[in-house]
Amino acid sequence: MSSRSWPSPAEEAEHLRREIARHNRLYYVEDHPEITDFEYDQLMRRLRQLEAQHPELVSADSPTQRLGTGRVEKLPPVIHSRPLLSLDNAYDEGDLRAWLQRVRDLLGGREPQIVAELKIDGLSITLIYEEGHLKEAATRGDGTTGEGVLPNVQTIRSIPLVLRDSLAPPLLEVRGEVFMSKKAFNDLNATREREGEPLFANPRNAAAGSVRQLDSTITARRKLSAFLYAVARWEGENAPATQTEQLGALTHLGFPVCAHHSRLDGIDSILAFLETWREKRKDLPFETDGVVLKVDSMADQERLGSTAKFPRWAIAYKFPPEEALSRVTAIAIQVGRTGVLTPVAEFEPVNLAGTTVRRATLHNYEDLARKDVRVGDTVAVEKGGDVIPKVTRVILERRPAGAAPFEMPSVCPECGEAVVREPGEVALRCVNPSCPAQVQEAIGHFVSRRAMDIESLGDERIVQLLEARLLGGIAGLYELRKEDLAALPRWGEKSAEKVLSEIEKSKEAGLARLLFGLGIRHVGEKMAKILAERFHDLDALASTSEEDLVAVPGVGPEIARSVQSYFRTPGSIALIDQLRRAGVRMSEKARSSSGGGPWSGRSFVLTGTLAAMSRDEATLKIEALGGKVSSSVSKKTYAVIAGSEPGGKLEKARDLGVRVWDEGDFANALEDPEAAR
Ligand code: IVH
Repeated sequence: MSSRSWPSPAEEAEHLRREIARHNRLYYVEDHPEITDFEYDQLMRRLRQLEAQHPELVSADSPTQRLGTGRVEKLPPVIHSRPLLSLDNAYDEGDLRAWLQRVRDLLGGREPQIVAELKIDGLSITLIYEEGHLKEAATRGDGTTGEGVLPNVQTIRSIPLVLRDSLAPPLLEVRGEVFMSKKAFNDLNATREREGEPLFANPRNAAAGSVRQLDSTITARRKLSAFLYAVARWEGENAPATQTEQLGALTHLGFPVCAHHSRLDGIDSILAFLETWREKRKDLPFETDGVVLKVDSMADQERLGSTAKFPRWAIAYKFPPEEALSRVTAIAIQVGRTGVLTPVAEFEPVNLAGTTVRRATLHNYEDLARKDVRVGDTVAVEKGGDVIPKVTRVILERRPAGAAPFEMPSVCPECGEAVVREPGEVALRCVNPSCPAQVQEAIGHFVSRRAMDIESLGDERIVQLLEARLLGGIAGLYELRKEDLAALPRWGEKSAEKVLSEIEKSKEAGLARLLFGLGIRHVGEKMAKILAERFHDLDALASTSEEDLVAVPGVGPEIARSVQSYFRTPGSIALIDQLRRAGVRMSEKARSSSGGGPWSGRSFVLTGTLAAMSRDEATLKIEALGGKVSSSVSKKTYAVIAGSEPGGKLEKARDLGVRVWDEGDFANALEDPEAAR
């Protein structure tokens, strides 16, 4: 593949980019790869190498930029060449007939050809290509001015950075939708749950949040997809003359285009299309919330024109959200690990979007009060794009006489202590650290597999220990005695021994797991690792100022504040003291100095800018593997890691014959540190 010799590095780079673009299309758009992942990686590797040697060759539309290019202060405004209009909605057959009649009237009584497409539930986007190269990408914004999101959009693998062939006009602007597949969405939320981060309500919010990121390396990790459905500008020859031709041209140029569209005429064929997709959409890998109907001929579209808000030549038919009625049997209050009180409506089981639902959260007290849900009420429960079913409204005509408005308790239903509403928060919170609901949740979290890994202690056993008063909190775990445990119903000697040996082992779990296990707000598994790697020791972390915490890469002000306030709370101070006395290790073994880790004894030098991480992060990663980072290159240097615009260190490395890793090599090495050479 690379045996051919090229007249110039620029030509080789251009060739590689086109090849990579072609293989991306085959893989992500056509689902028909021609080469193995290994061969693809080789192409990328060669391109990265060329760009490292000739930094002037790095261009914004190079596939090496797909990993994201770092953080920006704000998303720059982009004024749209033509406004991004929204669509008028139709909810039933009557609306559709009326629209079709209007179109016919405006076209002088002629029956138009209609194209039906799925309405993709994502975020609209406009892309500008000059001479076949992606130059700009923007969100809709207010329709006139959007947000420039080029670095983010470049990370979406199915969006071509370079168009497929010479048929591309000199200037092309295309529009479409960025979305997240159902699977990518579920995976993302599962990870966020593990990390203790807030969940996205639905794939659309997740897609929008990911595209509008200030840090494109985050977008790069989000598995976004896209479908393009319109040409907004085609400045050049052979412009498509119908919507159907547009979709064909987009496909031909290498864009991902949703395959499910049909040319129809007459209301009957339109209704049949809707009928088919009302059910079939549930089997699609992505969410659709309706069908968009468009007049096929561009000449007709122009003749029909637009109102201030909508084109007259198109309309969106919205599928009704799936709704069911049920009767509220109770309104329960749940107390979470952080003490937040959440009202939950319990109702008679109903079938909704393929699952049986019997409860729905009411988010918070305000939501409950606004909807005025009462026990005995018949309510409409809806499952739209959101994961969690919602109570949307109360059927007031069916309210039984004497149903009383629900009042949030002024005391915690679990412990009886007064609840508080913290300034700036909607949520009511129980702040009693020994509230049994919180204690149970807190212990459950502490012993979980990703925290201290005391796996034999499941929820049921925790409740049993709390009820038997053998346990009052986390620290009590380390005071449990075999005789007491063995005497409990359904325990026995064996289980007691097993639990105790896991508890004993947990003392050596290390700082990262301990930090995660403590359940500090906003400190998920990943953040716990970052903090442990940075501070090595719980006391060091506890005595760090908020300012210094914010300076740690990845730590925002909210996290810093939460960490600070945790270590100042008397309850936490006491807990940490008890854990220390029980012999729980509160420091990370300093792997680099003790000589452990696969990279121990190796010294690295960083030069230039890495796209995927800061220098600090790179240093932490190397140190975590036992390596050292030094500032100057010598014969003893194990490897020089060269980002973009490397300095004289790169030359020095070459002179001394020290191995050079580009960013890709470094990324590979981190993935498989044992094998890295
Ligand atoms: S055509 C001039 N086609 O739905 C109007 N829009 O509710 C151009 N959408 O803003 C839009 N799938 O973000 C069109 N196949 C499709 C679509 C689609 C999703 C979105 C788009 C639009 C919104 C209107």
